[in-house]
Amino acid sequence: MNVSSSTEVFYITTPIYYVNDVPHIGHAYTTVAADVVARYQRLLGRQVFFLTGTDEHGMKIEKTAEQRGMSSQELVDEVVERFQHLWQVLNISHDDFIRTTEERHARSVTAFFEKVRENGDIYLGTYEDWYCIPCETFWTVNQLEDGNCPECGRPAERVKEESYFFRMSRYRERLLAYIEEHPDFIQPPAKRNEILSFIREELRDLSISRTSFSWGIPVPGDDKHVIYVWFDALINYLTAAGYPDGDRFSQVWPADIHLIGKDILRFHAVYWPTFLFAAGLPLPRKVFAHGWWTVEGEKMSKSRGNVVDPVAVADEYGVDSFRYFLLREVPFGLDGDFSRAAMKGRLNSDLANDLGNLFSRSIAMIGKYRQGKVPVPDPADQRYEEFSRLAAEIFAEVSTGMEDLAFSKVLQAIWRLVVKGNKFIDQQAPWQLAKDEAKAGELDQVLYCIAEALRLITAYLLPFMPERAGEMMRQLGLTMEHFSRGAEIFSWGQMPPGTVVEKGKSLFPRLD
Ligand code: ME8
Ligand code: MG
Repeated sequence: MNVSSSTEVFYITTPIYYVNDVPHIGHAYTTVAADVVARYQRLLGRQVFFLTGTDEHGMKIEKTAEQRGMSSQELVDEVVERFQHLWQVLNISHDDFIRTTEERHARSVTAFFEKVRENGDIYLGTYEDWYCIPCETFWTVNQLEDGNCPECGRPAERVKEESYFFRMSRYRERLLAYIEEHPDFIQPPAKRNEILSFIREELRDLSISRTSFSWGIPVPGDDKHVIYVWFDALINYLTAAGYPDGDRFSQVWPADIHLIGKDILRFHAVYWPTFLFAAGLPLPRKVFAHGWWTVEGEKMSKSRGNVVDPVAVADEYGVDSFRYFLLREVPFGLDGDFSRAAMKGRLNSDLANDLGNLFSRSIAMIGKYRQGKVPVPDPADQRYEEFSRLAAEIFAEVSTGMEDLAFSKVLQAIWRLVVKGNKFIDQQAPWQLAKDEAKAGELDQVLYCIAEALRLITAYLLPFMPERAGEMMRQLGLTMEHFSRGAEIFSWGQMPPGTVVEKGKSLFPRLD
């Protein structure tokens, strides 16, 4: 990334995923959503820094590696490739991939720890509580369910050890005030309310080190302790931005959006802001917690054997169809269910029928009636004006929708143009106009509007379906240069007359 000193960078992150699990559609979901935002912001001409990565420390890794007779480092090096491969398959355009086992991260966490300790917010105490190893989460006795972890149902272990604590309680009032003054900080609103009531109840100091395992970053000056997983993991967002002394840090930080699932909202909306307060750093502008996917009505889990492999889904249905389904099917923020039937239905109706048909019949007609050449528009033509108004409306809906991460709404807005395009062709019946030489001018206007509608749809779909939109672009005789003019590409009338369109293979074959 090249950052000149005057530009502000749009910084978006995904969670860093644990490498003790193989990636599934839940991980794909967050990362695809972030990718769509990053690509959209780039289209608008913003400098973007899009970060994803992996969370590689902790007791669970150490134990798994032991069981498999390998070193922790060997284990994480093996599994990280699964994630890196998946992001390649799904066409993820991240600018950086951070691993918490990297040297840059150890430097950053160490500096952060020292800064917070200097500020008087770290002290040595004794930790006594219940711990769920698989979830890497501590629970109070009240939170346990029959002695088991309330999240995964597995037995929790009693632990008592010397530990460093972060004085989180000190920041309770300040955090409450901050959240109240920044209504957009935690999204969606229902989640914000949950967090507010959580903080109002109590904010305990937080244990941030362990002596019971060693796979982690040592506490500076006391290396029998390693830094506990969240005080390590969350700081990845700073590390990648260049903390503590990188040149570009002040242009990149604070992040514009931390995109996460609802399972880790508390860590991002309670712990993280208080860490940042203590280090004297600005808070991210937005933390957005999306909903949870089940599969065919059931919770996804290794023991149920119903974990959906995103690489297999992408192979079977196409990468962009999968990306489309994930973001169109469920309003972002709500829970959703992944089923093959739902996916087939959605892809056949929206992609094969609506969009695919519009494209192929339009290009065929321009080919047949105008030798593939896009005619010259007449901006005073009533059809042109009508489309122009619709395009402005859709731009407003898409802009707001993208700000709110309301992907499903955005796609519905784009589909207004798809539906309108198909209806327009039916109503105008170019095949009739073509029979009458006196109507050649009218036919020109109809075909221009259709071509321009296709261009506009392509522009809007570039973030969602980068590969298929690239194919649409080729069929329309356009190149990325035509889509590198910032927000202007979303306004009506940008299709250059004389462009030669060319029919290609079916964009979205029907699924049976
Ligand atoms: O929590 N539905 O990593 P993790 C939707 N390392 N999203 C899902 C999902 C599902 N069924 N399952 C997983 C961690 N996700 C920590 C994060 S960040 C500083 C540290 C997605 O591998 C969703 O984004 O358990 C969720 O928040 C994340 O994966 C949890 O990934
Ligand atoms: Mg998890």
